Order: sequence, then structure tokens, then C-alpha cells
Amino acid sequence: MFSKETYINRRKNLKNKINSGIVLIPGNNDSPMNYKSNTYHFRQDSTFLYFFGIDLQGLAGVIDIDNDEEILFGDDYTIDDIIWMGPQTSLKEKASAIGVNQTKPFAKLSEMISAAVSQNRKIHFTPPYRGENIMLLADLLNIHHREVEKQFSLELTKACIDLRSIKEPCEIEEMERHMHTAWKMHTTAMKMARPGISEQEITGAIEGISMSGGGMVSFPVICSVRGETLHNHYHGNTLKEGDLLLVDAGSESPLHYATDHTRTTPVSGKFSEVQKSVYQIVLDANNQAREAIRPGTLYRDVHLLACKVIASGLKDLGLMKGDVDKAVEAGAHALFMPHGLGHMIGLDVHDMEDYNDTLVGYDEEVQRSSQFGLAALRLGRCLKPGFTITNEPGIYFIPALIDAWKAESKFAEFINYDQLEAFKGFGGIRLEDDILVTENGCRILGERIPITIEELERIAGKGI
Ligand code: GLY
Ligand code: MN
Repeated sequence: MFSKETYINRRKNLKNKINSGIVLIPGNNDSPMNYKSNTYHFRQDSTFLYFFGIDLQGLAGVIDIDNDEEILFGDDYTIDDIIWMGPQTSLKEKASAIGVNQTKPFAKLSEMISAAVSQNRKIHFTPPYRGENIMLLADLLNIHHREVEKQFSLELTKACIDLRSIKEPCEIEEMERHMHTAWKMHTTAMKMARPGISEQEITGAIEGISMSGGGMVSFPVICSVRGETLHNHYHGNTLKEGDLLLVDAGSESPLHYATDHTRTTPVSGKFSEVQKSVYQIVLDANNQAREAIRPGTLYRDVHLLACKVIASGLKDLGLMKGDVDKAVEAGAHALFMPHGLGHMIGLDVHDMEDYNDTLVGYDEEVQRSSQFGLAALRLGRCLKPGFTITNEPGIYFIPALIDAWKAESKFAEFINYDQLEAFKGFGGIRLEDDILVTENGCRILGERIPITIEELERIAGKGI
């Protein structure tokens, strides 16, 4: 946990942003895998972690804005629990470690919320995403479970976004400390990538490194020779000469801060000439985007800059044509990069996405586009010092998308469909770093994972 003062300050800052009512932050509980007592690895809710810090089941935090009270609801462990779980600290001790003075049994939560509801007081909660907490809120508020999401508090959600968007020095330290685990995961995958090994073996090895480094993976590992499928969780292929292995993987730090990196490795140990050309375009897009990241810049504009680097590189390769600016404005490049340049990262790999990514990534100044490709950009708004974000351009040759666009001659003025036929088996390349926006610019968090063509060719397939 961070210091007691960290949590006290966060709650104080939250209280200053909410006018009146009761803030209710339910923690998560265990989720059954295949029967009740065989559960998925426990993951605490990130909003609860941020304001109440305790990484355990069975808790809810309440902040009564009108009466300036903070209460931790939960139950002390019974002797039966202790037999199975070992010695536990008391609820009072847990509350004291985060600077909360009042504790109450969990059953008392419904009394407090019912009384507040009957007095027409506002109960603030962020959009729930787990069935158990949706049911809990439905019970507490005495409404149908389908009504719960609709009643989330925009005021609380926006306040949480404001606070969590700017990382505190202790959060940056925690994230930076854990970057070494990410480095080890990705360099291990690179070293293991050789003909004959399976995606599953590499996936297992890097998940193990994440666990050894302090936490579970921050999202299901993407480790695939079919990198053109953006979130490819199938790990059944065996690597062969000429393949490109795309690994998009991250790890949770001991305090649950995520890493998220992507690298693409030549399985033969050397890139072919054409792989090299496409790889270099993605690397140029990554580097030029990073050079443009600074406070006061709209991330949407950084995204568009990366798209122009990609369109211009593809034009040089003869795959696109015409005016690059016009092609990107029209969205023609999205055939090759249908996703956004990046997203916020923190306690969640897509930070705060449970709140709704349009609320997190957009504001009055920058509205989300509905154009294919640009619509997938999760972060468009103005960058501020303390933001932690990803920078992850890519180029993909998605046969089904190429065929679909070709059939309707979509953007035929910008795309050389005939030249594209030869690229249908190419796969995909994505290069992703985690970035901190600083006062004057930005920097990569942690030591940069090998990324240049020379670095990749030096390490690929060398074995661990
Ligand atoms: N690393 C997965 C993603 O950003 O969507
Ligand atoms: Mn990412």
C-alpha cells in the first residue's frame, strides 16, 4: 500500500469535487471459475484501490459528503476463515492503515443507504461492471438490476477521472519500478522466438515472468504469428521461418499498476526486406509520435500525425497513393491501422475504462469521431503533465478487411488494391511503449525494450 496520507489526500480531493450526497465505492469479491469456492485470482476494484487501498474481498468504502464522514464497511474474519486463510488483521487495523476512523459490519451498509435514499439523498457510484456489484447496488437502492448502470453518478465519475488521470509521484515510481518485469517478459519472448516453438510455450513463459515479478498479467496475453488480428488470444500456432511474432503483453505491479507493451520479432532471426520496410514505418510512427507528445497537445493530433507517417510510408511502398493528408483526413489509412494510437494506463491497462472510455479520453474541447479507425481512439483530449499513456502504432494486413474494401472500391483513389494482394499473408506489426507526459515533453517509462531492427535481429531466437 502507499502511505496513509496518500489515501487521506485522495479522499479529501474527491470530497472537494462532490457537492453533496453519499459516495459509495464497493470493493470486488471473489468470482467463481467453475464452482463457488474455486475462484479466479482475486482482483480488487481499481476505484476502491485508489481511494481505500485495501486489496481484499468483502469491503465497501463510503464517503458521506454532507456529514464529512468516511466509513469502511466489512466483517472481521471468523475463526473458520482463519483456519483456511491464516491470521488476519482486524477491520479496524485495516481502516487505520488508510486513515479511516469508522468501521461497520457489511450488513449495516444497507441500513445507511436505505436511510439516505428515503431522505432523497444522492448516492454516487461509478458504472459497475461486475454482476455481483450490480446485484449489490440493485439491492441497496431497491431498483431492478437493469436500472443500476443508468443511475451511475456522472459527477463522481468525472471527479475520479480528473484525479486518476494525473499520476502522483508515488504512482509513477510504482509503475517505473515494475517496467523491468515488462522488459524481461518481452526480451524473453524475443529470445524464445524461433522456428518450431509454439505460441503457447512463449505465452506460458512470459506469464510466469509476470507472476514472478509481483503480479498477474494486466490483460490476456496476445502472442501470435497472426498479428493482423488485433486482440488475438489464440496460442495454438507453431512458429515457422519467415513469420513475424507479435507479442502484446503487460504485467500488474504489486500495487496493481499495469504495463502494456508490444513488440514484433522476426522468427527467422532476420527480417526479410519487405518486413524491414514495413517495420521501419511503424517504428518511425512510434518515434515521431513520441517526439510530439507534450502537455498542451491533443492526443488526437498525435494519433493523426502517426497515421500520416504510416500513410506516407505505405505510399513509398506503393500500397497507398495520392495526397497523404487527404487520405488520412478521409480515413483511408485505417485499412492498415484500424485502432487508436494509445490510451491512458494506470491501475487498469486501459485506465478507467470501466467509467466509459469516451468520458475518460474526450471532453468539451475534443469530441470522439465516428469515422472508422479514428472512432477507436480511446484518448483524444489535451495532454497534461502526469498523464501516463501508451504509444502503439501498427500496420496490419487483414485479408477480410482488404477484400471487403476492395469489393466496394473504397478509397480507390488512395489505395493500390492490386499491390495489396501479395501482402495478405504478411500479418501485422505493432510497437508499443508506455509514456509519461512530463512538464516539457514526455519520456518512456523504464528502460526501453529493444525496438530497432538491429536490436531485434541481435536478440531474436537467441534462446534464454
Ligand atoms: N494491449 C492491449 C490494448 O491496448 O488494447
Ligand atoms: Mn495498449
